[in-house]
Amino acid sequence: MSKRLKVWVSRPLFADALARLGQFVEVDAEPVERTHSAQDLRRQLAAVDGAIIGLADRFDATTLAGNDRLKVISNLAVGYNNLDIDALTRAGILACNTPDVLNETTADYAWALLLAAARRVGAAERWLRAGQWQGAMRFDDWLGVDVHGRTLGILGMGRIGQAVARRAGGFDMRVLYHNRHRLPESVECECAARWVDRETLLRQADHLVLVLPYTRENHHIIGAAELARMKRGSVLVNIARGGLVDEAALAASLREGHLAAAGLDVYEDEPVVHPDLLALEQVVLSPHLGSASAGTRRNMAGMAVDNVLAGLGLGPTAGRPPAPINPGVLDARRRGSKA
Ligand code: DGY
Repeated sequence: MSKRLKVWVSRPLFADALARLGQFVEVDAEPVERTHSAQDLRRQLAAVDGAIIGLADRFDATTLAGNDRLKVISNLAVGYNNLDIDALTRAGILACNTPDVLNETTADYAWALLLAAARRVGAAERWLRAGQWQGAMRFDDWLGVDVHGRTLGILGMGRIGQAVARRAGGFDMRVLYHNRHRLPESVECECAARWVDRETLLRQADHLVLVLPYTRENHHIIGAAELARMKRGSVLVNIARGGLVDEAALAASLREGHLAAAGLDVYEDEPVVHPDLLALEQVVLSPHLGSASAGTRRNMAGMAVDNVLAGLGLGPTAGRPPAPINPGVLDARRRGSKA
C-alpha cells in the first residue's frame, strides 16, 4: 500500500470535518487551541504535505525556509493577511481560503455591532447586570443615535460589503460606498448603493462600516485625520482587520465625543485590545467572531478540508480546490514547473 500523505491541522476542528479528511490522508490535528511560535510552525510544516491553519498562524519566507515537502496551506478564513502569498508562490505552495460561505453571517454581525454601538446595548446591559437599575429611570438616560433613516457608509465593497448594504433597505437608509473599483451598475442597483470618493464617504456617513482587506497600503486607513473628517456623532464599525484603524486615535476621538460610538470585532494586536478602548463604555468589543455561527463555521471547515484535499490531488475535486488564492501554482504544477 502506498504511503498516505499527511495533513496538520493547527487548531481543533469539527470531528466530522476531521473524519472526512482522515478518509484520504493521515491527520495530525491539534487537540487544544494554542498559539504556535514561528519555530513550532516551521517544525510542524516540515513533516507534512498539507496544513489547515488559523489566522493566528503566520507564514512567511522564514517559516517556509528549507521546506520542500509542503504542497498546500488551507486558511480557515477568507482574509489571508497572515500569509505571505508571494513567498508561498515562490516556494510552489498552494494557498487557499474560505470565501463566500461566510458573507451573510459576517454581514449579520456588522449589523449586530452597528445596532449595539449606536443604541448602547453593551453599556446598558453591564449597568443592568450590576444591579444599577433601581427605581425609575430618567427619561433622558441611555440616549443613543438612530440607525434608521441615516446614511450608511461602507468602505470596501466586496461580497461582504454588498451583503451589509443589502440589509440597509430594511432600515430605510441611504447607502454610500467606496471601493477602489466601482461596482457594475447592476450590482449597485441590487445593493441600492452609490459609489463616492473616500473623502465624501467619510464626511457624509452617519455610520461607517469597514469591510476591506488589510494590506500594507491600507494600514491605519482610518487614523486621526480621517476620524476628524467623519461626522460628529457618527459610529464606526470594524469587522475586517484591526490594522485598518489607528486604535489610539479612535479612542481619543470617542473620548472627546467626536465619534459617538464604535463596534469592533477585530484589533491590531489580537488578542490584545488597546487599553484606551477597553476603558470606554461607548465601544462594543467582541473577540473576532464575525463568521462564528454554527452553520457558517461548519461550512468554512468543510471548505478548508476540500481545499487541502484537492490541493494534494485527492478527493472528489482533486486538482480543483474551491478557493485557491494563488492558482498559478496549480497551473505551474500541471506544466511541471514552478509558478
Ligand atoms: C475571516 O474569515 O477572514 C474572518 O476574519 C475570520 O473569521
